[in-house]
Amino acid sequence: MNIDDSFPFRIISGFRPLRGLHVAHHAAVLRDVCKYQYAQKRCAYVFVADHHARSRWDERVDFANIGKRTREIAKQLLACGIDPEFSVLYRQSDIPELFEIMWFIAGVVADSTLRRGHAVTSDPAPTAGIYLYPLLMVADILSLKATNVAVGKDQKQHLEMARDVARKLIRRFGSKFLPIPESLSVDPPLILGIDSSEDRPKKMGSEFNNDIPLFADEDTVKDRIEKILTRPIKWGDLLPTEGCNILHCASAMAGEAAKELFARKYEAGGYGYSDAKKELIDLFFDHFGSMRQRYAEIEDAEVDRILHSGAMAAREQIARLVFEVRREVATLV
Ligand code: TRP
Repeated sequence: MNIDDSFPFRIISGFRPLRGLHVAHHAAVLRDVCKYQYAQKRCAYVFVADHHARSRWDERVDFANIGKRTREIAKQLLACGIDPEFSVLYRQSDIPELFEIMWFIAGVVADSTLRRGHAVTSDPAPTAGIYLYPLLMVADILSLKATNVAVGKDQKQHLEMARDVARKLIRRFGSKFLPIPESLSVDPPLILGIDSSEDRPKKMGSEFNNDIPLFADEDTVKDRIEKILTRPIKWGDLLPTEGCNILHCASAMAGEAAKELFARKYEAGGYGYSDAKKELIDLFFDHFGSMRQRYAEIEDAEVDRILHSGAMAAREQIARLVFEVRREVATLV
């Protein structure tokens, strides 16, 4: 939590329109945002980062369908419990001001910082879009004067960059200009994919096909859970609880208590991986059944209406920083 109360508590969280929200989004980000959104009206700004999905043009990102998938993710966010009566839900591409802010901060970010970005270093042929990806993310965060960023551990580098830019701007324009954003959760969990193993941990992501999607059809969900990689054991041995992916997923879905229930069954014996997976499937549908029901009931037109009013609310906030920036850089005289 941000203790500097000279700025109103404001959370920002962004979701790329990839294949769909999954258990890691729920565990690392959405569970918290849905809770904190009620702290104050309009304290949570949640958006679909469709321009981030456009940082490269190729079949890997299914470019032609980004627009459709953006609405889809917005619908899923609503189904997960983002409450449009309280939170501002918007589409990144509805905020053209972001690019002005991005250009403004481009001058204080060292080229070497961008060169070290995860996305660039892990890409054999990065585009300029991949290279600038973190800069747009910093603009998302700072343009709203967000005090808290709801992201998973994998985004730590980007958050650090945002903090660094905020510090530089404050040094130049004073501490009233911007808050230095903090992570919403002190220690966000890193949720691993179903193909993770102890010696090769991998983060969960729909782009890696190792996620448990929240809103996919029943068979896909079951199939993913059945495919969770487990450690081989000798016939008759107790299932090891240490580093077990099934336990990890149980906790990601329903918290530590759910994980403990499984662990006790492991320790009691007479319980195999296939029993555990069957019960994990039941846990999934118990836990996410009402969200999935809500998802089925939300109409596209309703999502569009919410995104439209969200964009107006977000732009109203962002316009303040744009105005201040223009004044500082003397395009307004
Ligand atoms: N890069 C984030 C991700 O891949 C998405 C994102 C873009 C974001 N802009 C943001 C998250 C601003 C939080 C705040 O998950």
